[in-house]
Amino acid sequence: IFEPHRRASAGLALADRTVRSELLSGMASALLSPFEVGPLIDGELTLGDARPHRMVCPHDHRQDIGQVHWSDAHHIEAAISSACRNAEAWDLTPVDERARILERAANLFESQRTQLMAVIVREAGKTVTAAHDDVREAVDFLRYYANEARRLFSGPISLPGPTGERNEMTYRARGPFACISPWNFPIAIFTGQIAAALAAGNPVLAKPAEQTPLTAFLATRLLHQAGVPAGVLHLLPGYGTTGAALVRDPRVQGIAFTGSNAAAWAIQKGLADRRAAIVPLIAETGGLNAMIADSSALPEQVVRDVMRSAFDSAGQRCSAARMLFVHEDIAPRTLSMLAGAIEELSLGDPMDYATDIGPVIDEQAQDTLDAHKLHLGREAQLIADGGMPEDCRAGTYVSPAAYEIERIDILKSEVFGPILYVGRYQGGMLDKVIDAINVTGYGLTLGLHSRINSVADHVARRAKVGNLYVNRNQIGALVGAQPFGGEGLSGTGPKAGGPNYVQRFATERVRSTDI
Ligand code: SER
Repeated sequence: IFEPHRRASAGLALADRTVRSELLSGMASALLSPFEVGPLIDGELTLGDARPHRMVCPHDHRQDIGQVHWSDAHHIEAAISSACRNAEAWDLTPVDERARILERAANLFESQRTQLMAVIVREAGKTVTAAHDDVREAVDFLRYYANEARRLFSGPISLPGPTGERNEMTYRARGPFACISPWNFPIAIFTGQIAAALAAGNPVLAKPAEQTPLTAFLATRLLHQAGVPAGVLHLLPGYGTTGAALVRDPRVQGIAFTGSNAAAWAIQKGLADRRAAIVPLIAETGGLNAMIADSSALPEQVVRDVMRSAFDSAGQRCSAARMLFVHEDIAPRTLSMLAGAIEELSLGDPMDYATDIGPVIDEQAQDTLDAHKLHLGREAQLIADGGMPEDCRAGTYVSPAAYEIERIDILKSEVFGPILYVGRYQGGMLDKVIDAINVTGYGLTLGLHSRINSVADHVARRAKVGNLYVNRNQIGALVGAQPFGGEGLSGTGPKAGGPNYVQRFATERVRSTDI
């Protein structure tokens, strides 16, 4: 019924030494001087009266990357009223033109990859590989939603009906959309939300995470350069209060949000308190994701995949594995290999290609994770802690660690960092493990290692998760091929990068004509 987008963005062959050294030297020289960003209203950098905020690099707080001027009430008002003024013209813009603009933006993102990656690494502390994947995913979202726009908006859909009647359904824009995005995918999720809203013909008020406004600023400039009309996309850097102001405003016709459960609940409440039109909230929140390895699993593969799932991006992915449930038969070997692998991980400057784990995003995250590790030191058995090199002291680093737990319910809510819980289970207890995962109420990703197909089928039938990964890692969902998103506490759906996403940004109209 639909042609899924299959062409993944062309990445760089990072394993090739020449490609890599060219990229790294380009990234180093892209960042010679700190730069200044702020609200972009009607395409203009619009500064307020307040002093700008200094942005420091998470890997080394002595280094500035730039400064940001936060949005104030005037910026928010100017952005919303401009979005309202420009809504109809954008809705009436032929869909092919909207799609071509998004595709041009994808090409621009690829041609500006080096600069974008340089800022992502310095601002968000992502490793070079993770920043590369982040840009690729943004490009994939742009192309995928452009395709989706053409599929859905090209003309009325004829519906069968009684003789003598013509029934047609069309998708139309809703109006100004607020896109509130997180810091952990500062370009992919930021761009994905915006691209879907624009594809559906909506103007956008983009509120990036306060930790990553510089990446958002560059991406917004490129979207404008690609042809998104200045009055149709506004950037409002700020804290949660800026997002809350957008949520409160009855002119905003929908919210796309990725972030914490607490913020999602506040948005739901804010929308209800408006006592105005009931508008969609598309929320992607957290996960308490597990990996299960049964007795038929190969410990080498389990360790390879759980390492990537738990520690890539310092565990700061909503898809990341937080718990490994391993069958007792393979537990001794799996755990000793896991300990060895954790001790091998290198923490360090994310710009260094050899670094496996960069910093966590900020001091608040570091404090929470450190406190959590102290607590685990008392409640659980340490399997391994990767340790902290001396040169990481100037940044917000947390060393990767795994702990063995006795009771599954010890982990109640998401802990967003490089900490893995491991529990052993006995033969015949797989259903108890699935129950324990389901009872958390989260439902985002689940990894399964088993060489028995009927086990995989059974887990797929019983586990209430949005994305199940079998015999592989459980992160890095690919746009179009692995639509991503969870259920329950993990979000509302529809899945990002999937065939039902753009529709949620649109409204459906039906016209029935007597012929
Ligand atoms: N889409 C991301 C992933 O799959 C979300 O964290 O890893």
